[in-house]
Amino acid sequence: MIGVIPAAGIGQRMEAEIPKQYLVVAGKTLLDHSICALFNDPRIEQVWVALHEHDRWWPQSLYAKDQRVHTTQGGGTRAESVVAILNALLQQHAKKDALVVVHDAARPGLSTNALARVIDAAESEPERGALLALPVRDTVKFAHVQASSHVARTVDREQLWLAQTPQVFQLEPLLTAITHAQANKIAVTDESSAMESMGISPALVIGNRAGFKVTDPEDLALAEYYLQRASQ
Ligand code: CTP
Ligand code: MG
Repeated sequence: MIGVIPAAGIGQRMEAEIPKQYLVVAGKTLLDHSICALFNDPRIEQVWVALHEHDRWWPQSLYAKDQRVHTTQGGGTRAESVVAILNALLQQHAKKDALVVVHDAARPGLSTNALARVIDAAESEPERGALLALPVRDTVKFAHVQASSHVARTVDREQLWLAQTPQVFQLEPLLTAITHAQANKIAVTDESSAMESMGISPALVIGNRAGFKVTDPEDLALAEYYLQRASQ
């Protein structure tokens, strides 16, 4: 099984001097935490990381010389970075139906238990695949404009889930789904949405709050808290 980590973003919302995946939290970069988390499951034998074309920080990674870890150049969007890795894997003659475990570099708090559960779910239904997600707890409002606005209506949260990663799918079907979505201008901010556009209904596996995506500056203290707690 292959870990796939898109890590080619610039971390605009983090407003840091360097891309957020290279910020150090609880003793390691976010990216190194994420790679480490994937190797906590013995089924993951190799990890592929997509890097920005002007990346200057990877050589300092704890995994830069690890034989199990490979890098490739990412693209202008997260989906393009994932596609770059999937294409590289096919070029390396990876099996077309191999399960790939796609995980954001910016989610360092992935627990071993949640990882095992999402892989278990994908292994039991490989054509469907699986993703971690959390049920929505807050009341959800719909508004017509993105920034501050007025409420148009309240949305029933009982049916809503927040998608996390890992998302686990078969290599070639996933590549086909993402390229199909891109060709049809369907927005794909995760792997599941690409598979859904092909009529697939992936399994939802309950994630945990520590698996949140580190996005803006105030997320760093929360990540530090979860990562310190997990290491105790
Ligand atoms: N990512 C990527 N290639 C891109 C954009 C994003 O590999 N062109 C990766 C990021 O490095 C991150 C993950 O996809 O690990 C989730 O994206 P996000 O949290 O949005 O990170 P950034 O795009 O870096 O942040 P921002 O949107 O604030 O610029
Ligand atoms: Mg982004």
